[in-house]
Amino acid sequence: MRETYVDFFKERGHAYIRSAPLIPENDPTVLFTTAGMHPLVPYLLGEKHPAGNRLTDFQKCVRTGDIDEVGDASHLTFFEMLGNWSLGDYFKEESIGWSYEFLTSVLGMDPNHLAVTAFAGEGDIPRDEETAQIWKSHGMRDDQIYFYGKEDNWWGPAGQTGPCGPDTEIFFDDGRPKCGPDCGPSCHCGKFTEIWNNVFMQYFKDAEGKFTPLKQKNVDTGMGLERILRILNGKETVYDTPLFTGIIGKLEDLSGKKYGENADDTKAFRIVSDHLRAATFILGDGVVPAKIGQGYILRRLIRRASRYMSKLGIEKTCMREIAEVVVSEYSKAYPELERNKDFIYTNITAEEEKFRETLTKGLRRFNEMIAENGDKKVLDGEMVFRLYDTFGFPVELTTELAAEKGLQVDMEDFERRFKAHQDNSRAGADQQFKGGLADHSEETTKLHTATHLLNAALKRVISPDINQKGSNITADRLRFDFNLDRKCTPEELKEVERLVNDVIKAAVPVVCEEMTYEEAKARNAVGVFADKYGEMVKVYTIGDFSCEICGGPHVSNTSELQGFKIKKEESSAAGVRRIKAVVGKFD
Ligand code: ALA
Repeated sequence: MRETYVDFFKERGHAYIRSAPLIPENDPTVLFTTAGMHPLVPYLLGEKHPAGNRLTDFQKCVRTGDIDEVGDASHLTFFEMLGNWSLGDYFKEESIGWSYEFLTSVLGMDPNHLAVTAFAGEGDIPRDEETAQIWKSHGMRDDQIYFYGKEDNWWGPAGQTGPCGPDTEIFFDDGRPKCGPDCGPSCHCGKFTEIWNNVFMQYFKDAEGKFTPLKQKNVDTGMGLERILRILNGKETVYDTPLFTGIIGKLEDLSGKKYGENADDTKAFRIVSDHLRAATFILGDGVVPAKIGQGYILRRLIRRASRYMSKLGIEKTCMREIAEVVVSEYSKAYPELERNKDFIYTNITAEEEKFRETLTKGLRRFNEMIAENGDKKVLDGEMVFRLYDTFGFPVELTTELAAEKGLQVDMEDFERRFKAHQDNSRAGADQQFKGGLADHSEETTKLHTATHLLNAALKRVISPDINQKGSNITADRLRFDFNLDRKCTPEELKEVERLVNDVIKAAVPVVCEEMTYEEAKARNAVGVFADKYGEMVKVYTIGDFSCEICGGPHVSNTSELQGFKIKKEESSAAGVRRIKAVVGKFD
């Protein structure tokens, strides 16, 4: 399906680009890539994309809002989105025509089983009759076309601010009678399943909530791979598609149980399958379990999976075996999994073992707390915080355990304690939701260039084998993770700092060039996860000091950084060190 989709759009002038990493680069406002358009925000806003103005891909995505819903027939944390984009090029006519052609001619779907929606108009933004007319020109009947307002027929922005617009959504109609007079694509009775969303991105939403027209009219589309496979295979749930056969089969071997035999086990099978597939992909992009940020989500996924593996009667340490299935089945589409498999296996096993050690103790403590709590229906925040802090119980896990005993958790109290605990760490997870999407402020741009200098300096001072394992930039600091199985010495850190400051003092121009991936390789340009790149890439060169494949943006001269200071060097995970550093004028 991935290939069929991409080929179809390649034949229609689109350049294929590789999936970007799950961790948005230089976008501190969101934890994960949530849609195919997410890595393309700068280009939707008008920046020139090196591969052209028609793009297509399949993008790995993670949405964390629904973790606790996973286990039913449809919710997933990790999913793949097939997409095609017009960056100021074609618009509604072509976009709708191609979607219709792909679904009916290529995939062979019966047009009678399709239903579509269009924007009904709201506020200053008019009703989208044009879209309805285009659908009719392809033979869709009036009773297959539905109009909805902003609630249902508007998409974006992906963060708080950014590109967005009215959309037309394409649904599969399973042919059952309507559940009532108001039944339609927005009804949740199950008759209609959304398969594809074509967004006509022509507005920018700013921090005040105001919409202004973008300088170009874009198309952003997204089709859920899991859903379309479910429908084409005539299956009830996404777990019955080939995407999960291997993973569920492995779980059946490990547990000696059969998927689908009873409701509780079925739910557990699904949760473990979803969570470990997601965890493998997140690890594959260099994230390690942690107390905050992406690492916290990863930890939650692994720990929740561990608990549901116990429910299936799996007691040995064996997450690695599931991760191996994911790596072997998905590496053709996502080669970074194969490349980073040792990192994935080491870290998933380490986290699994760590949690197993504390789970028994933590559960004992939890049961004591329940006893101490007597008849009260609410578990106070202090207890919940202790389970989090001492036993590494994600608060969501405690909430779930409490719910099983008919108890609620005092979340407000917990959050107060959690905040107090986080006060010293300005990099708290919620910090990452502040500001606008794709925060390309002056400060983050400087820190981004500093990250390249730091990367190059570490290679020179410590070892040419140093590679970036992760990067995160906020307005205040950069954070850079790299492979090293020991502490850096104070001398090394001093030398790294000195080298970077020398380049800053030397006022070296930062040069950006576009070239093919092969040319970039030939120049020995550094690339973190090479497979995210399209055919043409941007390469940023800083004298003979640094040469990196990167989307930018960067300062134009190193002197703009003024100075560079390492604030902290610490361990980030097994075999991974972390440096936090700042730029500016220092005495
Ligand atoms: N960005 C649109 C979505 O995620 C296509 O639905």
